[in-house]
Amino acid sequence: MKKRILSGMRPTGKLHLGHYLGVLANYVSLQDEYDCYFMVADMHALTTKWNESGSIRDYRREMVLDWLGAGLDPGRSAIFCQSDVPEHAYLFTLLAMITPVSWVERNPTVKEMIRDMGLKDNVNLGLLSYPVLMAADIMLYRAQAVPVGKDQVPHLEFTRELVRTFNHTYGTDLFPEPVPILNEFQRLPGLDGRRMSKSLGNDIVISDTPDVTAKRMMTAYTDPLKVRRDDPGHPEAGCVIYQYHKLLQPGTAGEAKLQCEQGLLGCVAHKRSVAAMVTERLAPFHERRAAFAADPGAVDRILAEGREKASIVATETVRMAREAIGI
Ligand code: TRP
Repeated sequence: MKKRILSGMRPTGKLHLGHYLGVLANYVSLQDEYDCYFMVADMHALTTKWNESGSIRDYRREMVLDWLGAGLDPGRSAIFCQSDVPEHAYLFTLLAMITPVSWVERNPTVKEMIRDMGLKDNVNLGLLSYPVLMAADIMLYRAQAVPVGKDQVPHLEFTRELVRTFNHTYGTDLFPEPVPILNEFQRLPGLDGRRMSKSLGNDIVISDTPDVTAKRMMTAYTDPLKVRRDDPGHPEAGCVIYQYHKLLQPGTAGEAKLQCEQGLLGCVAHKRSVAAMVTERLAPFHERRAAFAADPGAVDRILAEGREKASIVATETVRMAREAIGI
């Protein structure tokens, strides 16, 4: 029997190159080894975007197309939407009963969200209980492992604590303690050198056309001391283009570094060639994505199938959880 994994992303924007090379590549390769559940976390998106709910539906479609383009295979993996499977909310309620308020208040990832969004005294109950809903997502499929980014590890630790608490309180071994599957890919810098993020406006959106990507690439941060082509560059001093080059085509990066330092390679030319590397890397993605996008019913159909698959496990888990609790 294959081990089961569950992961999810909030549909709050278009996916960028950091998602693609990091999390998505990981998702795709895990499909061989695991029984996979990939979830559009639209209820989690509502915790902060409750008043922009219209955009969530649009991003849901874009995100699923990005997943399919990257190579998630609906024939092997369940691709579904959180709000389509009501058992998430059901298990959440059961878990809320065994969750001390102090646990959610001290969760570092939630604290960070509150700080970053300037919410402070304006935190809704949904956001505070974010980690409990995430634990419900994972536990509903009795997932043994969860592919996530490093920032999500505190949430996973929280899930493990809830698993232990549930099993101990109700004298059961229903839920396994899920372990994180971290991707080794190092974090991709954004065009300005800070972490790549839509909210910082420094991202390379994977569904953009090669033209748009090339234009965006021209805005990337390079060595400010290199004004003309023949100025000696310092690519190690935070040049984003050089970092992209190393990640995308490590074999040729050393040569480019030398040429930059010797004043033989200018920033504009280097940006052009790195933009071409991105286009080349994303070509199979664009081709697959376009094929799915051309079929207007495809996403809805895939989500409906995914929901069926997810519901089978979800209803079974809820039945067993009720039995363990004795209600
Ligand atoms: N919190 C995750 C994020 O922001 C999204 C998420 C929701 C998730 N439920 C999950 C991830 C369950 C893994 C497992 O990226």
